[in-house]
Amino acid sequence: MPPAISRIVQNLEPSATLAMAAKAKELKAAGKTVYDFSVGEPDFTTPEHICQAAVAAMKAGHTHYTVASGIPELRTAIAKQYKSVHGLTYTAQQVVVSNGAKHSLHNIFTALCNPGDEVIIPAPYWVSYAELVKLTGAVPVIVPTQESNNFKLTPEELRKAITSKTTILLICSPSNPTGTMYSPEELGALADIVLERNLTVVSDEIYERLIYGNHRFASVATVRPGMQERTIVVNGASKAYAMTGWRIGWTLSPANVATAMADLQSQETSNPSSISQYAAIAAIEGPQQCVEQMLVEFAKRREFVRQRIASIPGLSCPDMAGAFYAFVNIKSHLGRNYGSARVDNSTQWCLTLLEQQNVATVMGSAFGAEGYARISFATGLETLQSGFDLIEAFLKSK
Ligand SMILES: Cc1ncc(COP(=O)(O)O)c(C=O)c1O
Repeated sequence: MPPAISRIVQNLEPSATLAMAAKAKELKAAGKTVYDFSVGEPDFTTPEHICQAAVAAMKAGHTHYTVASGIPELRTAIAKQYKSVHGLTYTAQQVVVSNGAKHSLHNIFTALCNPGDEVIIPAPYWVSYAELVKLTGAVPVIVPTQESNNFKLTPEELRKAITSKTTILLICSPSNPTGTMYSPEELGALADIVLERNLTVVSDEIYERLIYGNHRFASVATVRPGMQERTIVVNGASKAYAMTGWRIGWTLSPANVATAMADLQSQETSNPSSISQYAAIAAIEGPQQCVEQMLVEFAKRREFVRQRIASIPGLSCPDMAGAFYAFVNIKSHLGRNYGSARVDNSTQWCLTLLEQQNVATVMGSAFGAEGYARISFATGLETLQSGFDLIEAFLKSK
């Protein structure tokens, strides 16, 4: 008999976004042209000066273990960046570098949650939050938000969700999957309740550099005096610098939390890749035009996607303030047949679209919101054009 899997891991949902991306890859491997809008990573290559820094690090012999929480130079660079961009003061000791922001989130929940604690996660939510909370024995409390409020949690919704067991509120702004972002005023209203009820905020700011038009990013740590002490900021190199494969994420937090996460990481994974850490210093301290250039391209794609969605009857999505996703309301296209396939929910819609038109998207149900599909525009304009033509043909099909 094979070994039994632990109850806690049996209870874990695999990542739906990675599962859709894997299905798309399978079709590609079988020789099909696939329009893949399932992916959550920039299609750009990592900028040359960052790659060069990695090569230089290897040649200089930086190929050994580092301090578990990251090399001091990188942690200092991260603290300096948060000071200059957001006016937040952190010491290098308050920064913990991990193997990607996902790992940072795992560290946070493991360091802060006790079994039975409740963590409030506004839905739609990024696929990994609830599962990472469950791994600790804590309880993810999913709070649905309204499309009419751009999927942002209101103070009333937050108040209703808080119980005597609530310890953490999770905020992802700009949001994966919706692309919407809280204003400083909206964050302030939530922060008032956080302060009153003595909660901690985990603020996932991984898309903070990818902001469009007149939208301005604010960290919840800045919106009220006292919020920095109760906020754990999560960020990383993956999205802003097209460095998903390098696996570098980080947290900025109160010192006791940083120490706890550093100790945890020292036992679990040791340090993140030494070479990637040197590359991340080049990313943060080097020229930032690369981020601007990618943003210009993302902005063109966002505009294209916005217009296409608006032009297709029965589809709608909130204004994307940041990130690279459109969260599309497909409700009026459910409850019917597409050829011989019956499509009643977002999973069936996404799978049928993939099977019939080779277009990969991710079902809203994976993000805790039925009746929607997430379309990533981290892919070239030509691919978007062809993919949207196919989506339109799919929706017209009988
Ligand atoms: C909202 C959000 N947080 C965190 C992550 C994890 O990023 P990383 O590649 O740094 O682990 C992602 C990646 O898709 C994300 O969308």
